[in-house]
Amino acid sequence: MATKRILFFFFTALLFFSSFPASNGADADVITALAQSLGNTPASWKAGSDPCSSKWEGIVCDSSGAVTDINLGSKSLTGTLPSTLNQLSSLKSLQLQQNKISGSLPSLSGLGSLQSVSLYGNSFTSMPDRFFSGLTSIQKISLDDNPLDPWSIPEDLSQCNALTDFSASNASINGSIPDFLGTMPSLQSLRLSYNQLTGGLPPTLAGSVLQSLLLNNQKSGAKLSGRIDVIGSATQLSMVWLQSNGFTGPIPDVSNLTSLLSFNVRDNDLTGVVPQSLLDCPTLTNATLSNNKLQGPFPQFTSTTVKLDVDKGNNFCSKSPGPCDSRVMILLSIASGLGYPIELATSWNGNDPCAQWAGVVCDASGKNIQVLNFANRHFIGFISPDVANLTSLTKLILNNNSLTGTIPDALTSLPSLQLLDVSNNKLSGSIPSFKTSVTLKLSGNPDLGGGSGSGGSPGSAPGDSPPSPGASPSGGGQSGKRSSGSAGLIAGVIIAALVVAGCVAGYIYYKRHKRNARKFGRVQTQSPPHEPEMVKIGIMGMKSNGAATSELYSQSSTDSAGTYLVENHNMNMSIQALTIATNNFSEANILGRGGFGVVYKGDLNGTLVAVKRNESLGTKGMAEFHAEIDVLRKVRHRHLVALLGYCIDGTERLLVYEYMPEGTLGQHLFEWNEGRYAPLNWKQRLIIALDVARGIEYLHSLAQESFIHRDLKPSNILLDNDMRAKVSDFGLVKLADNTKSLATRLAGTFGYLAPEYATTGKVTTKVDVYAYGVILMELITGRKALDETRPEDETHLVTCFRRNIIHKDKFMKTVDSFLDLNDEAREGLLEIAELARHCTAREPYQRPDMGHAVNVLAPLVEQWKPTSYDEGDLCDSGTDLAQRMQKWQLGDGSSTTELFSSYRGSIENSRVASMMRN
Ligand SMILES: *[C@@H]1O[C@H](CO)[C@@H](O)[C@H](O)[C@H]1NC(C)=O
Ligand SMILES: *[C@@H]1O[C@H](CO)[C@@H](O)[C@H](O)[C@H]1NC(C)=O
Ligand SMILES: *[C@@H]1O[C@H](CO)[C@@H](O)[C@H](O)[C@H]1NC(C)=O
Ligand SMILES: *[C@@H]1O[C@H](CO)[C@@H](O)[C@H](O)[C@H]1NC(C)=O
Ligand SMILES: *[C@@H]1O[C@H](CO)[C@@H](O)[C@H](O)[C@H]1NC(C)=O
Ligand SMILES: *[C@@H]1O[C@H](CO)[C@@H](O)[C@H](O)[C@H]1NC(C)=O
Repeated sequence: MATKRILFFFFTALLFFSSFPASNGADADVITALAQSLGNTPASWKAGSDPCSSKWEGIVCDSSGAVTDINLGSKSLTGTLPSTLNQLSSLKSLQLQQNKISGSLPSLSGLGSLQSVSLYGNSFTSMPDRFFSGLTSIQKISLDDNPLDPWSIPEDLSQCNALTDFSASNASINGSIPDFLGTMPSLQSLRLSYNQLTGGLPPTLAGSVLQSLLLNNQKSGAKLSGRIDVIGSATQLSMVWLQSNGFTGPIPDVSNLTSLLSFNVRDNDLTGVVPQSLLDCPTLTNATLSNNKLQGPFPQFTSTTVKLDVDKGNNFCSKSPGPCDSRVMILLSIASGLGYPIELATSWNGNDPCAQWAGVVCDASGKNIQVLNFANRHFIGFISPDVANLTSLTKLILNNNSLTGTIPDALTSLPSLQLLDVSNNKLSGSIPSFKTSVTLKLSGNPDLGGGSGSGGSPGSAPGDSPPSPGASPSGGGQSGKRSSGSAGLIAGVIIAALVVAGCVAGYIYYKRHKRNARKFGRVQTQSPPHEPEMVKIGIMGMKSNGAATSELYSQSSTDSAGTYLVENHNMNMSIQALTIATNNFSEANILGRGGFGVVYKGDLNGTLVAVKRNESLGTKGMAEFHAEIDVLRKVRHRHLVALLGYCIDGTERLLVYEYMPEGTLGQHLFEWNEGRYAPLNWKQRLIIALDVARGIEYLHSLAQESFIHRDLKPSNILLDNDMRAKVSDFGLVKLADNTKSLATRLAGTFGYLAPEYATTGKVTTKVDVYAYGVILMELITGRKALDETRPEDETHLVTCFRRNIIHKDKFMKTVDSFLDLNDEAREGLLEIAELARHCTAREPYQRPDMGHAVNVLAPLVEQWKPTSYDEGDLCDSGTDLAQRMQKWQLGDGSSTTELFSSYRGSIENSRVASMMRN
C-alpha cells in the first residue's frame, strides 16, 4: 500500500509538470482514480505517464485530450470503479465486461456522450440511484451476470431515447417490466432473462420496434405471467424467448410478424390451439412449444427447416399431425371464446370429449354432448356461437362467471335445448327468441335485454322469474330447477295454489307418520324371540346432506352374531391385499362415509373395487356385517351389487364390492348441478327404474329365499359406466315370509317408509314396493322424498304427488323441468306416475308385486331402447371380472334362468367371484 501511495504522489506530480499536457486535467484525475481503485491493471498503465499521450492500453482520447473510450474487457481486472467516472464528459464507450470488478456500479448520470456501456460478467454488487439518468446518447447497455442486490428498472431509463439494446439478464432485477420499455423509440433488443421479474407483458409492446424480446427463465416465484397476445402486435419481433415463465392463454396470431425467426415458449401454461399463422410462418427457424397445455391438432409446420420442440407435455388431441374429432374442435372453439381457460385445457385431454372432460356431459351412448356446465368458474370472455354446432345439447349452464357480449342468436337453433342458464354474468344486448320449451335463466345480467322486441317468452325478461319458495338458497339438488322461465305467471299461480292445497293435506298426513315413526324409533320394541334382528347402525348413505334427522337409529338388542356365522367359501381376502388395493386406506381413495364406516375405492390387481371398512363394530354391527355377506352370497343378480369378498382380521371387518363408477342415483338426481353429472334424461330414468324393479323382484321372489331389502332409496342404488342400476346395501335385508307379516324393529329411512311399517313395524315385501314407488316419484319430479328445504307443506313428496296426480294436465307441470318429453314419452310418464301411485297405496295389499312393476316398465323401456343398445353388452365387464377371478360356484341360479331367457346372461353367476382361489 505504501508503495502505491508513493507512486501515486509521483504520478500526480509528473502530470502537473509534464511537458506533454495531452490529457484534459479533469479526465486525467478520473483515470488516475480509476488506476488507483482497479487491481490488475495493464502493464502499460505506468504511474507518472499520461494516459492519453502514453497510450495506456484501453484508454482512447480525442485530440483535445478528453477520454472517449475505456476498453478493458476480459482483462482480469479486480477492484472497484471510482464514483467520479461520470466526470468523463466526453466518454462514448465504457467496456469493462468480463472482469472481476466488484462494488457498486458507478453512476453514469449525465454522461451525454456515452453511447455504449458494457459491464456484464463482473462482480458488481449494487446498482446506484440515477445510474441511467441523462444518458441521452446511449445506445447499448449490458449489465448481465452481475450479483447485484435486487433492483427494479428505474424510470430514468425512459429518457434514454437513443437506446437500441438493453441487456440485463441474470442481474437481480425485480418488480415488473415497465410500460415505457414498449414506447422507447429505438429499443430493438430487450434482454431481461434470469431475473426476478413478475407481472405481465406491458401492453405497450404492441407497436414497439422491438426485434428481440428475451424474458425467459424468471427466477421469482410468480415469474412473468398473464397472456401473451401483445406479441401478435409487436410486428418487428424476430426473437421471442418467453420460456420458463408462468404465461397463460393462447399463442396469438403472428401473421403480422414478418421477421419472426425464433419462437420459444416452452415451460409455460399456454393453452389453446397453435395458430395457423405460426405454423405457416415463412421466416421461422426455431419453434419451441413443449411443456405447455396446448390443445387441438398436433402442430405441423409448413417449413421443413423449423427446428421443433413441440410435442412433449402438451394436450394435443393426438401424438402426430392430423385432424381432431369434430366435437373436440367445436369445444375448443367454445373454449376460445373463454380465452382457453387452464382448467379446461388441463382436463380436456385426448380426442374424446365424452371421456370425463371438465364441464362436458354426454349421453349414455358416450357420443353426443348433452350438457355443458361451466357454472361458477370465474370464466371471462364470450359465448361462442359455435355452441350451436353441438346439436345434441340440452343444457348450457354458464351461471356465475364474468361473461360479456351477447347471447348468440345461433343458440335458438339448438333442437333439444331445454335450459340456458347464464345468470350472474355481464352479458348485454337483446335476448334471442328461444322456443317456449327452453328454460331461460338470465338474472344477474344488468345490461341484458335492454333492447326490447326480442319476442322471447314472458319468462325471458331480465330479472328472470323468482325462484319458487321451495328452492333452496344453497344450491342444493332442487335449487334453480323450479324457476321455469317459460311458465306464465298465471299458470304459476294456479299451480302454486293447487300444490299448496294438495300439500297441506299431505303435510298433515306426513306429520302424523313422522311423529309416529319418530316415536316408534325411540320406543324399544321387542322382536319375536325366534326372529334374528338385523339392525342398521348409524346413518346410511354416502352423503348425508344434513338429512341425518330423517334416518333412523335403532337401539341395539341382544341377538348374537353367531346367527350369521360365515362359512368359508373362499371369499376371504387378506387385510394386506386390501391395504395395498386402497393405497393404505388413503384419504384420496374415499368414495363415501357414514355411520357404518368408510367406503374406499380400491384396485385389486387391476380390478376396481369398492371396499367398505366398518369401524368399531359392536355386536349389532357384526350381525349386520355377517348378514350382508350371507345375503349377498345367496342373491346374485345383474341388478344387485356383487360382493366380491370380505375380510375379517382382528377388529377389522371389510366388505369388497364391485366398483360402480357412476356413483349413486341420489347423486345424479339431486346433486347433478354440483357439476359432476348431467341431469338424467327420461330414457335413463326409465331404464334405471326397470333395473331396480328387476333387482328387487329377484330379491323378493326369484332368489332361493325371499328377502326384503328394507332400505331402498336413491343413495342405495348404484350406477355403472352404462348408467345401469344395481341395488346395494343389504345390511338390513330380512328373510321374508310373505304368508304372514313380521313385526320387527323399525329400520330404514324416513320418506321411504311404508305407513304400516312406520306405525306398526310390520314388514312384508310390500315395504320395498312402497319405497320403490317413492323412488319412481323422485325420478318423475326430480324432488327428494323428504325435502326439508321446502316449505313444510311440500316436504313430503308422496302426499303431494298422490294429490296432484288426480289432475293429469296439472300434474304434468310438476314433472321435473329437465325432462324433455315428446307425446309418446308423456304417455309413458303418466303410466309410470300411475304405477308410483299404485306402489304407494295406503294398505300393503293394495300395492302390486314388483313383478307388476317390471311388466309395466319393460315395454316402455323397449320402446326407448336404441337398436344398438344390446343387453348382452352389459355382460362384458362381468365376463372381464370373471376372467380375472375364478368363478364362484356357490349357489344355483338355474331355476330362475328361464324367467330371464330373453335377456342374455342376465343371471350372472360369474359376477360374484372368488378372489382368493387364484
Ligand atoms: C448468473 O450470474 C452469476 C454471477 O453473478 C453466474 O455465476 C451465474 O452462472 C449466472 N447464471 C446464469 C444462468 O447465467
Ligand atoms: C425488490 O427486492 C427488494 C429486496 O428484496 C425489496 O425490498 C423490494 O421491495 C423488491 N421490489 C419489488 C418491486 O418487488
Ligand atoms: C395485422 O395487421 C393488419 C393491418 O395493420 C391489421 O388489420 C390486423 O388486425 C393485424 N392482425 C393481427 C392478428 O393483429
Ligand atoms: C435454434 O435452435 C438451435 C438448436 O436448438 C440453436 O442452436 C439456435 O441458436 C437457435 N436459433 C435461434 C435463432 O434461436
Ligand atoms: C360450426 O358450424 C358452422 C356452420 O356450419 C361452421 O361454419 C363452423 O366452422 C363450425 N364450427 C366448428 C368449430 O366446427
Ligand atoms: C357465485 O360465485 C360467488 C363467488 O365465487 C359465490 O359466493 C356465490 O355463492 C355463487 N353464486 C351461486 C348462485 O352459485
